[in-house]
Amino acid sequence: MPRPTFSELTAEQQQYTETCRERLAQDIQAQGGSIGFDQYMQLVLHDHAVGYYHTQQPVFGKHGDFVTAPESSVHLAYCIAHACAGLIRDDAQRNILEVGAGRGQLALDMLRYLHAWGCAPRRYYIFEPSEMLRNAQKELLEEHMPESRSVVEWLPDLHMDLGSAIVIANEVLDALPAKCFIANSRQISERCVTLTDQGELDWLVQAPSYELDVALDYLTVMLDSPPAGEPYCSEINLQLGKTLASWSDCCEQCIMFLIDYGYPQSEYYHPQRNMGTLRSYFRHRVSEDLFACPGIQDITADVDFSALAQAAKRLQMGVLSFGSQRNFMLANRLLDWRPAGKTQAEQVAQIAQLKQLTLGSAVGERFQVMVLGKGIEYGPDRFTLRDMRARL
Ligand SMILES: C[S@@+](CC[C@H](N)C(=O)[O-])C[C@H]1O[C@@H](n2cnc3c(N)ncnc32)[C@H](O)[C@@H]1O
Repeated sequence: MPRPTFSELTAEQQQYTETCRERLAQDIQAQGGSIGFDQYMQLVLHDHAVGYYHTQQPVFGKHGDFVTAPESSVHLAYCIAHACAGLIRDDAQRNILEVGAGRGQLALDMLRYLHAWGCAPRRYYIFEPSEMLRNAQKELLEEHMPESRSVVEWLPDLHMDLGSAIVIANEVLDALPAKCFIANSRQISERCVTLTDQGELDWLVQAPSYELDVALDYLTVMLDSPPAGEPYCSEINLQLGKTLASWSDCCEQCIMFLIDYGYPQSEYYHPQRNMGTLRSYFRHRVSEDLFACPGIQDITADVDFSALAQAAKRLQMGVLSFGSQRNFMLANRLLDWRPAGKTQAEQVAQIAQLKQLTLGSAVGERFQVMVLGKGIEYGPDRFTLRDMRARL
């Protein structure tokens, strides 16, 4: 796929990416000529002044760079709402915490269903680091569901005690900063980011940093069967545990729905996946060029669900189920859903979206749902038609 080019950008985007590059250059210089890819990803996605998720430019939807499941149809919201309704009926004290709520579409659709079914949560908390997205969420909810004002609350941080909660994170973990490595037979080096003499961002292979070195044991599966010939490049997310802890620590008890694209470890680090999973999105085009327009292009990596399960266990959380998004949705009444579009054309479009999610499609199988429990036990049948925990 063609990489995004500078000339395609609006004047505002050109200015934004230039400022982002200047910040990168300062950081690289200050750290002796290179930074880890995780630091690069942190700055270009999450920095409040120059990061992608903080730009005023459209990020989501037709005029942005990508479309998430809640943005493309109501079906995922319907199914998560169904799962939440059952949990709220079991315990009416349960709140919902949505982390990384994007433009707020999932919150809006879920609240609509939960209200209609008489199962509204006591509070619907949103933790969203981006001010631009927080404002978009507030506008959407205010415009389409002003009565949600008494239920929805935006949290400035996660230091509050939320009691018993249902935590929802859709396509959030894939945006966490990852470290990159290259393996040549049994030797692993870190792929860092540097600036060339011409001022271009480029890879620099170095001895692994302390954090990567500590994590290398985890990669023994891949190292035990080193790929022949070609060097093997991939990435590892060292922030899963810390992030999960920040979500679970604010709840006395919780059930977490973590939805994302990804694989168990043996597939993630399969010898054939020798270029890893990192990629960028710009105006709905996927590119492997992660340096083309820092601050303007999205960067994402698949989730290693085995690592996520291990992080959960270290935090004393149980993995209640793991399976494809399709099987999560089928177990949560997807087939009871009825089109609610105003026109026949809208209804036909909604049915087509439903087919795409259910008929063994790429979307339904590529996305996984992991359900975690802290201080709560439920069997997997409640959350999936086919539990795949044995593959983790
Ligand atoms: C790809 S978007 C997904 C948005 C939304 N969940 C959806 O499905 O449409 C990633 C979201 O996660 C947020 N985010 C990124 N890092 C985060 C973190 N460490 N904690 C919470 N939210 C985060 C972003 O600001 C953005 O709202």
